[in-house]
Amino acid sequence: MMKKLYIKTFGCQMNEKDSEQVRILLEDSYVKTENPEEADLILINTCSVREKPEHKLYSEIGRFKEYKLKKPDLIIGVMGCVAQQEGQALLQRFPYLDLVLGTQGFYSIRSALEIIKEKGSPVIFTDLKENFEIPLVLSKSKGVRRVKAFVTIMQGCDNFCTYCIVPYVRGREISRAPEDILKEAEELVVKEGVREITLLGQNVNSYGLKERGYPDFAELLDLISQIEGLWRIRFTTSHPKDLSEKLIKVLSENPKVCKHIHLPLQAGSNRILKRMNRKYTKEEYLEKVSLLRNYCPEIAITSDIIVGFPGETEEDFEETLEMMKIVQFQEVFSFKYSDRPFTLARKYPDKVPSEVKEERLRRVHSLQEAITKSIYESYIGKEVEVLVEGRSEKDPNKLTGRTSTNVVVNFSSPRLDLIGALVKVKIVEAGKHSLRGQYVESLRV
Ligand code: 5AD
Ligand code: SF4
Repeated sequence: MMKKLYIKTFGCQMNEKDSEQVRILLEDSYVKTENPEEADLILINTCSVREKPEHKLYSEIGRFKEYKLKKPDLIIGVMGCVAQQEGQALLQRFPYLDLVLGTQGFYSIRSALEIIKEKGSPVIFTDLKENFEIPLVLSKSKGVRRVKAFVTIMQGCDNFCTYCIVPYVRGREISRAPEDILKEAEELVVKEGVREITLLGQNVNSYGLKERGYPDFAELLDLISQIEGLWRIRFTTSHPKDLSEKLIKVLSENPKVCKHIHLPLQAGSNRILKRMNRKYTKEEYLEKVSLLRNYCPEIAITSDIIVGFPGETEEDFEETLEMMKIVQFQEVFSFKYSDRPFTLARKYPDKVPSEVKEERLRRVHSLQEAITKSIYESYIGKEVEVLVEGRSEKDPNKLTGRTSTNVVVNFSSPRLDLIGALVKVKIVEAGKHSLRGQYVESLRV
């Protein structure tokens, strides 16, 4: 009989993808359940990029202890960045854990479960290898149809921004073999009817640069775009320092590549950018923005911003606001700086008080809200292409999808059987987080 697997995923899209890979790795013996109480295996895929998601894990694990008391055979595991970061220490804190699988170790989940079966728990896999090869994990089942999917093209990061834990918990930057990426993407299109693929990596712009014979990221995009039946390609995240003119050209010229780039600015003051080790100045960032907009005037640019980095003065912070006004990001994900283990910035003495960080975050939010509003309003009256993802959550008589520029559109339609179709929608209203529109015609079904 099939056993039941419950996976709770915190953090970024990379984690979502890793959880999916684990599900596929176990598909011979486990089916997924949404109810942890009936699970035989509970996995928590964790995030440690900021303090908040890390704390969420600790409250989550505690909750599962009682299940184990009721069902002694239950296996509980932690995977992902906190597993990598804490390793053995997690077992000391939560002695009822059976499995700790790091950011490379989770690919060996089947052998970990074998060991538990034969020798008992706990099992810890937290080695990080520099020459690790990201395995190709393909589902043997027919697959459920879905509109979009992720494909990991890189792991790890070599940049060492001084606030960031990623290089420590995900290891050195590794690019995946292009054949594997293409194979995985093709399978998703053929078997599951996927129309949109998002390529994932911490810094996709440096894809392939360390490996001999690999295409660079611009070339990889062109290669993937040759897959028949694949209509849209997205990618995240881009580092401004590695964003090349060659890539910008592909972005503007290749019709399958969506007109959106997530280009984290992090801060607007050159002094802070230097202390963050971002390796660009605000002037250089603005040059990249101009280049993007010259080649591709319709491009939507989104960003991440950290407020209250150690030593950030009011003047420094105002430069961040100024940059937001100049660039006009479509959306900004903003965070209060928090100390992370292993990083250089945690040792910086001049920490910003938490109420100042709060206040700066509020100012970023309110400025961005106004900018997003004006960008969204500029869509009113226009016709846009939307890839239909499903029924709208709020109103099941409407459909929902995204524009190429990554804005959510909810729209009324005479037909509701258009999931997976590319349709033309006329925008009639702008909300805070989405646009509202009316179906015009189907472009591709
Ligand atoms: N504190 C606050 N925000 C952080 N980020 C990364 N590390 C930290 C930290 N120590 C943010 C950055 C990054 C996003 C994924 O998380 O903005 O782009
Ligand atoms: Fe972290 Fe910087 Fe690497 Fe992004 S580029 S993952 S912020 S070290």
